[in-house]
Amino acid sequence: MNIVIGNQKGGVGKTTHAILLSNYLVLEKKQELLILDLDFQRSIKTKWEKDLELFDNEPLYEVLQLDLTEISSIFVNLGNVDGNIIFDLPGKIDDDNLVTVYQKADLVLCPFSYDKLTFESTLVFAQVVRHLNEKVPIVFLPNRLKKSVNYRIKVQVNQLLSQFGKIAPEVSDRIAIQRLDCFSISEEANQAIKSAYDFIISEYLDQRTINQ
Ligand SMILES: Nc1ncnc2c1ncn2[C@@H]1O[C@H](COP(=O)(O)OP(=O)(O)OP(=O)(O)O)[C@@H](O)[C@H]1O
Ligand SMILES: [Mg+2]
Repeated sequence: MNIVIGNQKGGVGKTTHAILLSNYLVLEKKQELLILDLDFQRSIKTKWEKDLELFDNEPLYEVLQLDLTEISSIFVNLGNVDGNIIFDLPGKIDDDNLVTVYQKADLVLCPFSYDKLTFESTLVFAQVVRHLNEKVPIVFLPNRLKKSVNYRIKVQVNQLLSQFGKIAPEVSDRIAIQRLDCFSISEEANQAIKSAYDFIISEYLDQRTINQ
């Protein structure tokens, strides 16, 4: 399956959840996967290379960093990859090369937060994805929730986003999530992401054969 992690809004947690979900799928669900880092910032590739020097273990997965302009030609070979492919995208939607990515996606995972600016971007993102791919399931992942904050627009936001896909259980704001690496999941990070990831896996990943 092609699992695309996107939102046109920057800094919502796309890269964080690309890494954490990958670690979770390998460590907890014993799945094989490949990460495709399509962000020009090379966030995942750089982190993965650093962690590879720090840890003695074998890596959980390989990371392939590609320029968005190379994506159309690479899709031909992605069929040979064992397991799921996790795509980490840059925070934009206005690049023509992204059209292929969204058309080939089997699942779009969209981290967001309950502030007005992020919501507006997320809604536009959802409209564009739906326009490009009528069928692809979209899961909205509420991220970085703080216990002390009363998110007044939450009900309204969930209602509007529900027209495009499902809302996953919330992931809270945790230092342990900021301290992530490409080899493990800390107990505290695991607690924060478990409900959301188990929801995504049981709704969209369990019943499908790998790399359909
Ligand atoms: N649940 C969380 N708890 C605490 N910090 C978080 C959480 N999710 C993300 N962050 C932090 O938010 C910042 C932005 O996250 P990240 O880089 O994953 O976003 P992004 O959407 O990939 O950004 P960009 O658009 O620049 O690619 C990082 O410092 C990350 O550690
Ligand atoms: Mg990123």
